[in-house]
Amino acid sequence: MSYLTLLVEKKQGYAIITLNRPDKLNALNGQLLADLHHALVSVQNDTDVHAVILTGSGVKAFAAGADIGELQPLTAESGLPFSERGQAVANLLEHLGKPTIAAVNGFALGGGCEMALACHIRFASENAQLGLPEVTLGTLPGYGGTQRLTRLVGRAKATELILSGERVNAQEAHKIGLVNDVVALEELLPRAEKFVQTVLLRSQTAVKAALSAILAAEELPHTEGMRFEAEQFAQLCATADFKEGTTAFLEKRAAKFQHQA
Ligand code: COA
Repeated sequence: MSYLTLLVEKKQGYAIITLNRPDKLNALNGQLLADLHHALVSVQNDTDVHAVILTGSGVKAFAAGADIGELQPLTAESGLPFSERGQAVANLLEHLGKPTIAAVNGFALGGGCEMALACHIRFASENAQLGLPEVTLGTLPGYGGTQRLTRLVGRAKATELILSGERVNAQEAHKIGLVNDVVALEELLPRAEKFVQTVLLRSQTAVKAALSAILAAEELPHTEGMRFEAEQFAQLCATADFKEGTTAFLEKRAAKFQHQA
């Protein structure tokens, strides 16, 4: 499948999706959001794909936000579905059931930052700049940014960034927990791929359950989240991967997972 605004590369066990409007700094227009939604559903259904890396084409931007040309004519009526459409793509990234890793290779602003926030892990290149500048345009982050940034870095820092509209550089983003690691631009994809290759060695049945339990920490009250974790733990105890992983340890050999329940 080829897309107007994306490049999708399938590798051994994972896929790399590249936002590809470099002349517009990979700004998220309607076509790109539709393409991204379609590509994410495809990799979600692809049993050969166990993780997704999301990055931007070129050396300057991951994505410089929603396409401002499409924002400008919005009204109160059209604004709601516009926001919901972007939120749906971000929600899909977060609930893909497979690890999603943002490789932030430059500007990640507005909707671009919000897509990175929806990924489970963020690695940034040294030239990256992240921010939610929507108040400079007279609006607010509408693709989940007010919720996800606040949960990720805490209310004080999120409020500072969202109300000022200011960007943070990669080092500052790392300091506040907005990105997991910072590397040279040429090391960015190798860093993301190395992480993915490590995760691919694990039981994908367990990885999927762990991801859903981590998300439950934000989405459920504490006692329900603890219950959800215990239920996931119990279900994994019945899997072939659990028997293999524990037996392999006791037999002092490497586990060979089937990635099945
Ligand atoms: N929507 C639409 N087009 C965008 C865009 C966006 N969010 N961000 C950048 N572009 C376009 C520019 O209009 C320009 O197009 P042109 O060459 O046809 O004029 C092209 O991408 C390059 O951007 P430019 O502004 O010339 O690059 P720069 O290096 O001078 O500045 C930024 C880079 C990221 C600082 C600047 O582009 C910017 O502030 N973008 C908007 C960021 C934003 O507010 N995002 C939130 C949107 S909700």
